[in-house]
Amino acid sequence: MSTKQTLAGVVLGTSLLCLGAANALAADETLRSLAEKNNIYIGAILNSQWFSGGLPGNYEQIHKTQFNIVVAENEMKFDATEPNEGQFNYGNGDRMVKYAKANGMRVRGHALAWHSQVPGWVSQKYSGKKNELLRVLKNHIEKVVGHWKGQIDEWDVVNEAISNNEPMWRSQSVWYQGIGPEFIDSAFVWTHAVDPDAELCYNDYNLEQGINPKAKAGFLLEQVKRWVANGIPITCVGSQTHVEDTTTDKHFIGSPDSLRSLAKELAKLNIKLKITELDIGFKSGINVSKSDLERQGKTFREYLDIILEEPNADTYLIWGVSDKWSWLGGLNRQKGLIYDDNLKPKPAFDSIMVRLQNFEPPQDTTKQDTTATDTTKTDTTKTDTTKTDTTAQDTSKQAIAHLGSLEALSMHFAGRTLSVTGAVAAKVEVFDMQGRPVFSAKGVNGSVELKGVSEGLYIVRVRSGSTNLTQKIAIK
Ligand code: XIL
Repeated sequence: MSTKQTLAGVVLGTSLLCLGAANALAADETLRSLAEKNNIYIGAILNSQWFSGGLPGNYEQIHKTQFNIVVAENEMKFDATEPNEGQFNYGNGDRMVKYAKANGMRVRGHALAWHSQVPGWVSQKYSGKKNELLRVLKNHIEKVVGHWKGQIDEWDVVNEAISNNEPMWRSQSVWYQGIGPEFIDSAFVWTHAVDPDAELCYNDYNLEQGINPKAKAGFLLEQVKRWVANGIPITCVGSQTHVEDTTTDKHFIGSPDSLRSLAKELAKLNIKLKITELDIGFKSGINVSKSDLERQGKTFREYLDIILEEPNADTYLIWGVSDKWSWLGGLNRQKGLIYDDNLKPKPAFDSIMVRLQNFEPPQDTTKQDTTATDTTKTDTTKTDTTKTDTTAQDTSKQAIAHLGSLEALSMHFAGRTLSVTGAVAAKVEVFDMQGRPVFSAKGVNGSVELKGVSEGLYIVRVRSGSTNLTQKIAIK
């Protein structure tokens, strides 16, 4: 890095510190810093391409700045970790665990007992042989969970074991066919025996389609009740929440409200709900408009509300970072994530950000999960550093004076006029308290009239270069 680049970095970083002091809502807030403030985890997978170094540098930069929980897209699955019988491959998983520790992130392990991505040798050698399959699954769990004991905070012990169409177990599974449904109970018991401190989840999709006994979540709820009554060591349900935008999927019957009712039922059993694989795609081939993307943002926010508001919900994990690297094409869907193909934040990102900024927890509820604060304890967040690091502020003033041309970004609001100083050409955006965009203007240099915005409370965001200022305003 050249001296000039280093100096520019210092100026930018430290001028943000000054802004932080001047404006309580300002500066370099991230999804991660806000999630930590709200005592929840927000995350994204590490895409498989990351493991082979096939992603641009800003992918990882975004990932570790914006998220505080991580899971591997494919690298801890059965076929990746035990490709041949008794031959274990932990290399990629180790890389992710190391990355997570270096960046103070929580780690999910995904997934131990699943019908998919099972290597060929399992069914070729042992199809229908109950005792052999029990031995194979037990050995796999003992080796894999044992390898990462104490390093993986939570495991998807069983993934997608319920049929999609009827309230029954999924029959197309080497484990179910050979062992019967008790493979599930056993998998939880074996995992717990190896790593008693890990949280253990049952994970599945289409759980946002209601909790009546004929729906998948209704069937699951009956099983969870039974597991809890029988002392099976399950602690959480993961809702994958791969959903499609409601206007392009005419048959879709799921909703955030239905998922919330599942969370409430699970709370009665002292079981957590986590959103583990969120994406909200549109049908492939359709033209996705700006208003489609805004509606998508609203749906992202509605699922986030469950995690913020339900005391037994603590995790909001998205199945990808950028639309460019997403599994959704295979589902005949597109554009389901919160960054676009160029790794630029989409309206869904803004919607999540604003909601995290403005969420005020109800007085009488606290999260059931006390571990949610653990990451924050070890993480030296940027806000903490700004508060104590006064030398940095002094240096920045000198550096700015020296360069002469840089002025700190600030905003001032009066009537309906927003004045911006210190920007070359700022982008001004206004969101309502639900995170919906209501106004935006580009190239602002001076002042702008917030036309067409009705009376009420809003959040204004001003962006110039990589500086980002936000402030709550009241329009009267
Ligand atoms: C997907 C991956 O994203 C793809 O790369 C892979 O080809 C197939 O699996 N439910 C799950 C995830 O539990 O493991 C799946 O991940 C998506 C659906």
